[in-house]
Amino acid sequence: MKILILNGPNLNLLGRREPSMYGNRSFDEYFQVLKKRYAKHDLEYFQSNSEGEIISKIHQVGFDYDGIVLNAGAYTHTSIAIADAIRAVRTPVVELHISNVYAREEYRHRSMIAPACRGCICGFGLKGYDLAIESFWGDPSASKKPLGEKWQKAFGIAEELRAGGDNLAVIAEKLNRMEVKTPRGKAWTVQTVGRMLQKKKN
Ligand code: DQA
Repeated sequence: MKILILNGPNLNLLGRREPSMYGNRSFDEYFQVLKKRYAKHDLEYFQSNSEGEIISKIHQVGFDYDGIVLNAGAYTHTSIAIADAIRAVRTPVVELHISNVYAREEYRHRSMIAPACRGCICGFGLKGYDLAIESFWGDPSASKKPLGEKWQKAFGIAEELRAGGDNLAVIAEKLNRMEVKTPRGKAWTVQTVGRMLQKKKN
């Protein structure tokens, strides 16, 4: 799965910023832990202090990635524009806060982005990022991306062959003979053909 962790304003100062509230660890350090822990997945990290850059990043990945973990920092409580960006894309977004915002000042109790998000995790410290990543496992909305352009040709052929009674091995062999490659430019196997047909069913 391809997952973006998107941190908003002031989160570049994690580890130094109000450590009693946010802990002593920098996010760059914690991201290395996450990358090891979820090595089978493709994790990306982006941080920005600017609302526009956060919105552009959501636009950039929001039609291809399987999930976005978003800690929008204080923009959570103010930004209709970020909420609109979340609604505009297909990728599910999980709202995350390190601290328990509901146990803090009243102005942090309102989230402008929550209604646009898949769910919200808050108050578990950095461990919340693990919980948010894992929330995408088996989430049907995370796999509801339509097949990309590169899949379309292979899928059309595979579906026709399947309807004609060919098994996965034969389909893989025929696709390879036609020199139709996987989206990663590789030869087809029983597994990749099976996954492609399964993906489309979902
Ligand atoms: C925060 C909570 C926000 O209210 C605050 O403005 C932040 C961090 C959190 O992770 O707990 O910057 O999102």
